[in-house]
Formats: sequence, structure tokens, C-alpha cells
Amino acid sequence: MSKRLVITGSQWGDEGKGKITDFFACKASMVVRYQGGNNAGHSVMFDGKKFSLQSIPSGIFNPATVNVMANGMVINPASLVGELEKLHREGVTDYQLYISDRAAMVMPWHADLDGAAEQLKGDTKIGTTKKGIGPAYCDKYSRSGLRMGDLLEPEYFAKRLREALELKNRELKSFGLPTYRFEDVFDQYMGYAETLGYRICDTYELINDALREKESKILFEGAQGMMLCIDHGTYPYVTSSTPSASSVPVGAGISPKWVENVVGVAKAYCTRVGEGPFPTEFFGDTADGIRQRGHEYGTVTGRPRRIGWFDAVVARYTARLAGIDYWAIMLLDVLSGMDKVYICTAYECDGEILTSPPSTISRLERCKPVLEEIDGWKEDISGITEYDKLPEGARNYLQRIEELTEVPVGVVSVGPDRIQTILRAEELIKF
Ligand code: GDP
Ligand code: IMO
Ligand code: MG
Repeated sequence: MSKRLVITGSQWGDEGKGKITDFFACKASMVVRYQGGNNAGHSVMFDGKKFSLQSIPSGIFNPATVNVMANGMVINPASLVGELEKLHREGVTDYQLYISDRAAMVMPWHADLDGAAEQLKGDTKIGTTKKGIGPAYCDKYSRSGLRMGDLLEPEYFAKRLREALELKNRELKSFGLPTYRFEDVFDQYMGYAETLGYRICDTYELINDALREKESKILFEGAQGMMLCIDHGTYPYVTSSTPSASSVPVGAGISPKWVENVVGVAKAYCTRVGEGPFPTEFFGDTADGIRQRGHEYGTVTGRPRRIGWFDAVVARYTARLAGIDYWAIMLLDVLSGMDKVYICTAYECDGEILTSPPSTISRLERCKPVLEEIDGWKEDISGITEYDKLPEGARNYLQRIEELTEVPVGVVSVGPDRIQTILRAEELIKF
């Protein structure tokens, strides 16, 4: 029977999913990205080199791993071509990559409409990555979108493109934006068909056959984080997909019965880019110090990330939503040297104590974190490779996370490099 592992972001994104996926991908036969698009920015570092991926799965650095961009993604062919060219310039040329013919395709107007909607919202803007992710998912669900497989059938693509332009040019005009000519878009996308066409296939077969192979090890790589989930996140300050492990069956085209071993990736503190409520956010020198040490600037947009204490209310909530079996606690090294560290154990809202996030952001904005103070640790931990060698303060901190969330810590990351990873859980070692 195959082994499966889901890597899912459990805060507001940028938890270190790319690093952990690459870490396990060294042993994986397949890595499947099941949602999101090039709004993601996944960093991978090894041999002193750092790479940033947007829509390409983080197993791309292992030539033996089959990488799949599955049907649940929204794929921008222009950006994907650019991403592949960049990888080639960086010397990554030996890889396997397949694209689902059922994946939704991001068209040029999606970014225009994303930007226009943000501008119109003014002060209430979401702070999107402006990659057109929301408009692309909207078109998928309103059944007017194009799909990657359409590129393989020029006549059908032309028909769908004409229908889409009929609608989209009206929408663009209503915003006072330039419209698109059929011929221009057709030629541009037929160019992408030439470059990417041989990678586009029915990935349902690829993935389902692999699941039934005895020796195969399959990773499912999520993008964003569960607090950005369209259903369970801080709506409307969210992305337009479901990052949770719950999304794997639909987004990859497999039965839910195959989902096992979910690793929730969480920073040892919290960050958020873009707008929206963030109960444990704090400011000042301590926050600036964490931002500097953790290089907390967006991989996609370069925006400084907002900083907060570890939020166990959020972690317990996302652990339950995704069925998290183990935590991968990331960037623990960034907290070294601090006298005190803090964990949010509950929220206080309108005189009530809450142990899960309220569903409306108006209430969430009124939530005050109940913080527990824990003694920090002074030692540099970035070279430690065994859990038991971590300083007592660090181990106490991790233990408190386990107690509050009822989920064991299976992986600890103490630096951005692949080798700066402590694997603790027996079950994960077998993967
Ligand atoms: P992702 O979107 O979840 O893949 O995360 P990002 O790559 O956007 O952001 C995580 C950032 O933290 C990247 O710059 C990583 O190189 C870096 N990183 C990951 N793990 C660690 C760690 O344990 N320590 C430190 N200092 N940096 C880390
Ligand atoms: P990775 O996979 C962090 C945020 C944006 C914005 C909101 C909606 O690297 O963790 P969108 O462009 O998706 O419509 O923006 O979601 N966002 C992310 N924040 N990491 C990400 O991906 C993100 N992808 C989207 O900043 O607040
Ligand atoms: Mg990121």
C-alpha cells in the first residue's frame, strides 16, 4: 500500500510548507499541489541555494519525484512559463512535471479585475496578491472559466474564449478597463499550448495509479493557510480556495479514504500578509526583531509580514478542521534569545472566554488574546539536529503547544535549510 502525507498550512500562510514539502520530497515518488495558484510563494533551500516557487510543486528539485499540478489549482500559463524559465536559469533542468487538464486557467483579465475590485474597495480592500486568484475561481464556479486541457483543442479553446470574452469585456468596460481582442489572447495562449502542452494530461490516472502502487510515497502540498480558507478563515479576508487537507480529495481527484498522515505546518509564532483580523498581532521592537530575524517579507509581493504570538486558539481550530496528526513547528530559531515568549490560550470577547475563533470578523476584531508567558531560551538552536538536544525552554514551549492543541510535534525546523530540520515522529520517519 502506498504511503501518503498531506502538508497543510495551519495559520495565515507562509508557515514553511515549501521547506517541509521539499524535506519529505527527497523520499517521495510524487508531490501533488491540490489548490491555489501563483498567489503562493514557497521557499526551498539546500546546498546554500534558495529557491522560490509559486505554482510548481516543491518536489521539483528531486529528479525522481513526479510533480503534479492537480485539478484543484488555478494555473496561470504565462506565470508558469516564467517560473520554469527561472528554474532553468538557476540550473534546475532535470525534473518531472505534469499539469491537470481539468485545472482552471487564469486569464489575463483575472488580474485586471482583481486589482480593480481591490481599488474599488479602498479602505476595506483584502490586500490580495493581485494575481487574479479570486476572479479565476469565480469563473470556475460560475462555469464560464477555461481549463488547462482546453489548450490542447484549439477549436474548443476558441469557442470557450469567445464566450468568455463576451462576458469579461463587458465587466472590464464597467470598470473602465481596457478590453481584450480574441485574436491576441488566442495567439498568446496557443503559444503557451506549444510550451506547456506536452505536460498537460489527465492527472486523475497518474495519481490514482500511484496510490495503488505498494512502494509509492505521495505528498499532497497545500498552499496558503487554513485561516485564509474561503469557508473557515477570516472571511472575507481570505483567499478563494480551501487549503485544508479536506480539499485534497476534490483537488487531486482521489477518494477521501486515501487521506492519512496530515502534517500541519505552523510557525513558532504567527504572521499575516494583507488585511484582516489578527488577534495576537503586536508591534514595537520585539515584533520588529522577529520580522528581521525571520526575514518576514512576502515571497510574492515583498510586503512586510505582520507579526503575532503563537495562537493556540487558531492552532486547535485548524488541527480539528484538517485532522492534523502532527505539527511541523517552523522558525523556532527565530525566537531564540528572547527572555519571555507568549502563547495565546483563549480569546476574551465581550466579557466571554472563547476557545475557538468566532465566525464573524466583527467579533474576531473585538477578541483580546489571553496570553500565557513562558520563559525563553538564549541558545542558538540553528545547528541542533535532535529533539532532546533542544534547550529546556524550547522544549517546554513546544510541549505547551502540544498540550493546548492536543496534537504532538512531529517536526521542528530550526533554520531555512533542508538540513536544519528535526524529525521526531516515528511514523513520519518511515515516510
Ligand atoms: P510557505 O509559503 O509556507 O512555503 O512559506 P514561505 O516560503 O513563504 O515562508 C517561509 C520563510 O521562512 C521562507 O523564507 C523560508 O526560507 C523560511 N524558513 C522556513 N523554515 C525556517 C526556519 O525554521 N527558520 C528560519 N529562520 N527560516 C525558515
Ligand atoms: P503561501 O502558499 C500568505 C493572502 C493575501 C491576501 C489573501 C487573499 O505562500 O502560504 P489572494 O491573492 O489569494 O486572493 O489574496 O490571502 N495570501 C497569502 N498569504 N501566503 C500565501 O500563500 C498567500 N496566498 C494568499 O495576502 O491577504
Ligand atoms: Mg509563502
